Amino acid sequence: MLPTEWLLRFDSIHAVDIDPLARWLFAWRHGAALKTAGVRWHYQTGDALADLPRLLSAHPKACVLLDNLLGQLRFHAPAWQDPAVYTAYQLAEIKRMLHGREWGSVHDLLSGPAAGLSADVGFPVAQSSVSSPTAEHPVDVAWLAAAQPRGEWLDHLTGQVFPATTPVQGIAWAFRAKYWHWLQAGWVHASQVSSCRVDTKS
Ligand SMILES: C[S@@+](CC[C@H](N)C(=O)[O-])C[C@H]1O[C@@H](n2cnc3c(N)ncnc32)[C@H](O)[C@@H]1O
Repeated sequence: MLPTEWLLRFDSIHAVDIDPLARWLFAWRHGAALKTAGVRWHYQTGDALADLPRLLSAHPKACVLLDNLLGQLRFHAPAWQDPAVYTAYQLAEIKRMLHGREWGSVHDLLSGPAAGLSADVGFPVAQSSVSSPTAEHPVDVAWLAAAQPRGEWLDHLTGQVFPATTPVQGIAWAFRAKYWHWLQAGWVHASQVSSCRVDTKS
């Protein structure tokens, strides 16, 4: 989901994924362009959330992007714990650690079977029916109606990721032709952080 052009805005990138294959995919998709542009990058295989305190301390002025990660939190709840309780606690901890940072996230909000959208449309950014959607009022009813949801949809329990006034963007994504994800993207500008001075060019 990371556009190479967006990555090129940074001077330095430290990426983390728990899947050993992710580093090869990242290098394959972005490596040549980053090298040509002189962007320094390092890929770490490991648990980014468990390592977050150390990463934040090692990169005190870095922006943080949680890239399509938080929507999966509920699946990591231990069998004995309600996924809603587990996810709420994890999100609160992540937000506490990121307080004062400039950070963003793109994550699943809802997913489920839908009859009304064609996978041919690729990866559309939804045309919002809300003039300025925020984390507090994010649901794009027009998109949901057009999708013609069928059956039961999954709540990924990520409705409380951003502070209420954060501008958000909805994204419709076809996991399969008849099974869609409704994602949310947003960027939190910490008032005490004017820019990512060390790790980005912008
Ligand atoms: C939906 S995929 C998104 C992949 C990629 N970030 C993108 O946006 O194209 C979710 C990714 O999160 C990774 N992941 C899940 N839990 C993680 C964790 N605790 N630390 C690091 N990576 C994790 C998975 O290995 C998987 O590659």
